[in-house]
Amino acid sequence: MGKKPLSLLISCALLAYFVYTPVPENIEQPWKVMIAWALVRVHIQVAVLLDILGFPPFALLHLLEVSPISDANVTVTDTLFNEVPVRVFEPKQKSSTMRRAVFYIHGGGWAMGDATWIPYDDLGREMVNKLDAVVVSTNYRRSPQYHFPTQFEDVYDALRWFLRKKVLAEYGVDPTRISIAGDSAGGNLAAAATQKLLDDPAVKIKVKIQSLIYPALQALDVDLPSYRENAHMPMLRKYNMVLFWSLYFTSDKALKEAMLANQHTPVESSHLFQFVNWSTLLPERFQKGHLYTNPIHGHSDLAKKYPGFLDVRASPLLADDSKLQRLPLTHILTCQYDVLRDDGLMYVSRLRAAGVQVVHEHVEDWFHGVLSFSKYFRASRRELNKYLKWLEENL
Ligand SMILES: *[C@@H]1O[C@H](CO)[C@@H](O)[C@H](O)[C@H]1NC(C)=O
Ligand SMILES: *[C@@H]1O[C@H](CO)[C@@H](O)[C@H](O)[C@H]1NC(C)=O
Repeated sequence: MGKKPLSLLISCALLAYFVYTPVPENIEQPWKVMIAWALVRVHIQVAVLLDILGFPPFALLHLLEVSPISDANVTVTDTLFNEVPVRVFEPKQKSSTMRRAVFYIHGGGWAMGDATWIPYDDLGREMVNKLDAVVVSTNYRRSPQYHFPTQFEDVYDALRWFLRKKVLAEYGVDPTRISIAGDSAGGNLAAAATQKLLDDPAVKIKVKIQSLIYPALQALDVDLPSYRENAHMPMLRKYNMVLFWSLYFTSDKALKEAMLANQHTPVESSHLFQFVNWSTLLPERFQKGHLYTNPIHGHSDLAKKYPGFLDVRASPLLADDSKLQRLPLTHILTCQYDVLRDDGLMYVSRLRAAGVQVVHEHVEDWFHGVLSFSKYFRASRRELNKYLKWLEENL
């Protein structure tokens, strides 16, 4: 064999080795999943490399941004709500009645993502088309340049700007038909903002629905059965999720290390573990094969320096029942092969126990991020359709 064919053969073998990942049996289009996951991993490596070289780690991701371009049905505008950049999608067609609205918060580990990213821009347009609603997709400053509570406060500032009679009237929005929604880190921010709204006398208009799409809801226990089972699953590995959590609070690597060992919560805060105790909060079937042990406590220095991870605005699962019971109609979507699955499942259990009306959609055959891949995967398209239909019928 000549040199050229041999090196070609070796390259192909290496590529196949890199791309091949075992995926669960019930996954449709497995090769397409592997290729998508390989591309995600390449991006992660590029981010690590850029970071080492002293560049912004997510610089390459600017390629995903699109300008606000109106189409035949939707007017798209970038503007500021309380100084926070938002992208607003409005139906072009005039309406004689007031419209519904969705206040959307994108995901990306509090570190990446943007309302201008193609998947979120697409989602905004699709929501307008299917729901005839006004969609506000908010941005927020991100880690590692900004840490908690900046992300939360930006989102809340934009939300409170929007939830005013005058502003809603300008957009022709019915104040009784507004949903807050977000995916992943955006689901975390949506849950936290909805809790804060309950006790904010300055905001008279509340939301009708909170919709939490594979949300992150607690940073206390990152050794839940879902973290154990899905530590290396596409599209979000345990290591990356823990990195995102720790970066939300600080760039100090000591917190990441402690979180990876699941030994970051100090003994003084041990009463909080009841709110994330999976042996009481997870349905039987998700506990199978796992043994619950009481958590090991960490040094109190970390919690003193970075109290954010014990803060209910970062870990909405830490709210007590007296707060939870006042929450609005809640839609929660969880995915089987997702490290964040059990956060969502435990919130479902806690909200139901508190008497909140909860609609829970569990996707048995996909990974974290299912709704963002609707252009490429059948399972993803199916779930997005189901979700939009639910909003259409309930908002
Ligand atoms: C606009 O709406 C019409 C009717 O619902 C639809 O057929 C068309 O594809 C939409 N155009 C765009 C650009 O979304
Ligand atoms: C978690 O719940 C179990 C009961 O299912 C209990 O034995 C254990 O002490 C609880 N742990 C914490 C930290 O609340």
